[in-house]
Amino acid sequence: MAAAKDAPPTAGASPDEGGALPAEAIAEMDPAGRIDDLRDQIRAHNRSYYELDAPTIPDADYDLLVRELQELEALHPDLITPDSPTQQVGGPTSAQFAPVTHAVRMMSLDNAMDRDELRDWGDRTARKLASLGLEGAVRYVCELKIDGLAMSLRYEGGRFVQAATRGDGRTGEDVTANVATIGAIPDRLADGAPEVLEARGEVYLPIDAFQRLQAQTIAENEAAEAAGRKGRPVPVNPRNAGAGSLRQKDASVTASRGLSFWCYQLGEIVGAEAPPTHSGALQWLRELGLPVNPETKVFDSLEEVYDFCAHWVEHRHDLPYEIDGVVVKVDDLAVQAALGTTSKAPRWAIAYKLPPEERTTVLQDIQVSIGRTGKATPFAVLEPVFVGGSTVGLATLHNEDQVKVKDVRPGDTVIVRKAGDVIPEVVGPVLELRPKGLPEWEFPKECPSCGGPLVREEGEAQTRCVNPDCPQKRLARITHFGSRGAMDIEGLGEQQVQLFLELGLLRDVADVYSLDYDRILELPRYGETSVRNLRSAIEASKQRPLANLLFGLNIVHLGQAGGEALAEGLGSLQAIMDASVDDIAAVDGAGPIVAASVHAFFQDPANRELVERLIAAGVNTEGPERSVLPQTLAGRSIVVTGTVPGYSREDAEAAIKARGGKSPGSVSKKTFAVVVGEEPGASKVTKAESLGIPMVEADGFEALLTTGELPG
Ligand code: IVH
Repeated sequence: MAAAKDAPPTAGASPDEGGALPAEAIAEMDPAGRIDDLRDQIRAHNRSYYELDAPTIPDADYDLLVRELQELEALHPDLITPDSPTQQVGGPTSAQFAPVTHAVRMMSLDNAMDRDELRDWGDRTARKLASLGLEGAVRYVCELKIDGLAMSLRYEGGRFVQAATRGDGRTGEDVTANVATIGAIPDRLADGAPEVLEARGEVYLPIDAFQRLQAQTIAENEAAEAAGRKGRPVPVNPRNAGAGSLRQKDASVTASRGLSFWCYQLGEIVGAEAPPTHSGALQWLRELGLPVNPETKVFDSLEEVYDFCAHWVEHRHDLPYEIDGVVVKVDDLAVQAALGTTSKAPRWAIAYKLPPEERTTVLQDIQVSIGRTGKATPFAVLEPVFVGGSTVGLATLHNEDQVKVKDVRPGDTVIVRKAGDVIPEVVGPVLELRPKGLPEWEFPKECPSCGGPLVREEGEAQTRCVNPDCPQKRLARITHFGSRGAMDIEGLGEQQVQLFLELGLLRDVADVYSLDYDRILELPRYGETSVRNLRSAIEASKQRPLANLLFGLNIVHLGQAGGEALAEGLGSLQAIMDASVDDIAAVDGAGPIVAASVHAFFQDPANRELVERLIAAGVNTEGPERSVLPQTLAGRSIVVTGTVPGYSREDAEAAIKARGGKSPGSVSKKTFAVVVGEEPGASKVTKAESLGIPMVEADGFEALLTTGELPG
């Protein structure tokens, strides 16, 4: 990786451990010593990244180190040396693949971290052009910055002859055999290809292929462990997994991984005149049959460029592959030539980096939380770190096996990932920074809330507290009962439930309907109005659909969708209580695991008594009326993306279901049609396009509902 590799850093680490330093600390240091230290750290990371394909820190942490070095070198230009990582692109190559000299250098990109830095770049280019007497409007091409591995493909006489990695920019590695297995890369170009054409782009691993590889590695590791062998490291992100997949000795392994490619730049051209603009070059590459990313746009102002960047900050997760920025390039190739390059990056392009989604921090402790069904979930207590747009101090570790697979231990420096709306995750430890003798973490044997035993049944991934009187479980159950997807009782959140439990006003969910309001009125926090509001919210909850009640009962394995399926399929609470395991399993949407759990729940006398008390309190126990609408969409699966005017997402799905159709969240071969509303998700549209699934505009939705046919 170059300095400003499109790369990684270490939050919370001391200087001895490595990592970027705060500004005040830097000011007090001997600059030459710190520069040496930073160069050593960056070189070591470059080696891990480029030679070993095993980076030890996230890109964002690496970028901080490079930034610090660049700033120090800018303050002390006399200390700049040609071998500084800031003066070089990429890293050396490994001995595994033959070297390839690039006819045209493969450069890196400078980064802009925010709007101001983007504007600074715009000002710099404008000044440089003015100094050359080239004033005038500049057009910009914006492309996605694909988070993969830079690759140069060489075609001679229209035939694919060689693929080489970037390496240090002058010499890369010959990975032709491996790249030849990538389906997106054509063996031959369309007619009219020049004598020599080099196409540069990014090899990447799509997210679904990455997830498959992850799941497969975990399964293989389990089998290996069972046979007494050691497993392989589980891939941590698509980029590393993609790099590892590409640099295999056996090209058939590469072929099995599902790598793909986007082309974004011309290299050497012989025997043809290249188009005068970058956008023209992209169009040419496309016409020759190379895959050029469709999200590329040309703009006349930096404001529009910034809006494009801001759009992708919000929508990066709509894509079926990972991006880490937007690359902005000056469109006119003559203007590009006039702007020229620095020693490592063109002046005519800049990478606008998206906020990092991975950082490192210290894992202070692993604790266990107890959920409403007694599930004991280990979670990481972290030294707070800003990642994925917010400060993260806690992250789930899911279950005992996950902690083992990841081998994270209190005291470790760990990589934390927070991608979009997804909950923060501990990816794994940075083993190089593990203190000597750090003990493995042991799952506790006792519930941290009640001290009762934590039990893990044979074949179950989860460990549970089995004490029905566990106070934490009680709190979580009643809080869940009042929550939005269940009985939706405003004013009965966790704090209130905790208070009422402490005062003995509540013991179980049925007590919600016999609260002593006079007693509550005596509490300092409650006045007439708040008690009246609470009372009417509780009264209103009696009318909630049966599915909500079922979900609110805290039955193991029964989620919201399962509750809906049972309410619809069996029609009433009484029918569900009387149903056999087979009756329940026969309901569409309820499998054998749910059936066994629901049946066992209603066989337990204590639960039956609880349910009888709820019925006596007057909660709704009847399922929804069967739909009387014509079943125009029976057996058809319709995916909705974006907003259909006049419908909320739930309304649109309900309208499809009421006509016998299904409305899953993702597009597959089985999808009948995709309804494309306002602001649709790019990944659904792309997938529908690639599978040839018909797309229906929002104004054709009504016709689709009424006729069940695609509007003509
Ligand atoms: S242009 C001379 N365009 O980002 C310009 N690079 O940080 C060379 N990358 O080495 C690069 N998407 O591996 C360019 N649309 C895009 C890109 C892109 C991803 C990578 C590429 C490059 C690195 C620089």
